[in-house]
Amino acid sequence: MQTRVLTGITTTGTPHLGNYAGAIRPAIAASRRADVDAFFFLADYHALIKSDDAARIERSRLEIAATWLAAGLDPTRVTFYRQSDIPEIPELSWFLTCVTAKGLLNRAHAYKAAVDKNLEAGEDADAGVTAGLYMYPVLMAADILAFDAHKVPVGRDQIQHLEMARDIAQRFNHIYGRDFFVLPEVQIEEQVATLPGLDGRKMSKSYDNTIPLFAGGAKALREAIMRIVTDSRAPGEPKDPDSSALYTLYRAFADEAQGAAFRAALVDGLGWGEAKQQLFELIEAHVAPLRERYDALIAKPAEIEAILREGAAKARAIATPKLAAIRNAIGLRAMGQAAAVQTAKPAAAKAGKAPRFASFRDGAAGFRFRLFAANGEELLLSMPFADPKAAGALQQRLRTLGGDAPLREDGDALVLELDGAAVARTPQAGDAMLGRVREALAQLAAQD
Ligand code: TRP
Repeated sequence: MQTRVLTGITTTGTPHLGNYAGAIRPAIAASRRADVDAFFFLADYHALIKSDDAARIERSRLEIAATWLAAGLDPTRVTFYRQSDIPEIPELSWFLTCVTAKGLLNRAHAYKAAVDKNLEAGEDADAGVTAGLYMYPVLMAADILAFDAHKVPVGRDQIQHLEMARDIAQRFNHIYGRDFFVLPEVQIEEQVATLPGLDGRKMSKSYDNTIPLFAGGAKALREAIMRIVTDSRAPGEPKDPDSSALYTLYRAFADEAQGAAFRAALVDGLGWGEAKQQLFELIEAHVAPLRERYDALIAKPAEIEAILREGAAKARAIATPKLAAIRNAIGLRAMGQAAAVQTAKPAAAKAGKAPRFASFRDGAAGFRFRLFAANGEELLLSMPFADPKAAGALQQRLRTLGGDAPLREDGDALVLELDGAAVARTPQAGDAMLGRVREALAQLAAQD
């Protein structure tokens, strides 16, 4: 089965070496895996929350797109697009806004930090806070939910946004009585070290300690590396690799053997100047071919534009029908259709006191559904179906089975068999489980 992995890159600023090693390189490596269906996009609507400098936004979009492509992103494999090319995202964002509790947004770390800062300065709590900043988590939820992403690789600072996206999705699903959205999971790359910057603290634009990736060419790269802060040990004196930013940076670009050799050389007294030269050569060997591609891409912005538009078309092939279904479900339908759809929805599902089915797409495996008890316990997971209609038909059939549904024990589960085929399994075996499944099916049958 394929996992849909989706992440956004806010288009303010220019990628530095830390962004490359910490986010871009691992994301592109993951996108090459056969079991990953990757969606990477330029979060340029989010960028507007942080910057109203049009030239900066424009420049950053171009540089970030060129960086990802130069770093090896294959646009035939990855769905690579701009948020602002997908009208379904702001459309969904509004629908989600209408089910999102204001109190949830009051608790967002970024908003709270802005308020705390204002209060400390004796200002009005909301001074300088735009509604855009306040709504940031909802827009981000729309980015993710419009595509039913399973996994969202982000930095630790984004964990709360992912929790909010799940919250909002669940609330929407609950209100409209159906599982419209996959609940996304946050993915924190634990083993990817954050690179230290020039002063040994985490490399970050906000500390002004970054090493450029492409900007300024080999010369700027070398100059930055020569400015990395070291201790005052002279050549010949043994150095401590583990407390040296140089060594951490070196390892991020070296194989095991190179890393071990560099370590041994430092312990042996390699001078800092010579160590920096070796670090520069290692990184330059890695970066030079990428830089060449980057420069070629930047020189042809129309090609990047075409790639992003193609990506948007691929993305919209998913988002457009999804939003159409959502519009229909929430009552924004063609006039004549209204009555038919309304009667299709069982009144009890809305009350939340009945067992219910939840359909979802299980990557390449196909369409499945779960049956949940009235109290929310998972009772059944269906086999995958290539055709969502077949999955729907089976749900209809289960609704009529009632309490004597044919269930038999199979290992540590109960299997529901129809026409000689196993069509669904319970999460556990046992008589208690059997009783609960039968009860739920009986309740469903009684509803119809
Ligand atoms: N907020 C993210 C960040 O600052 C960027 C982002 C916007 C994003 N939309 C997203 C990340 C959707 C993942 C999924 O890093």
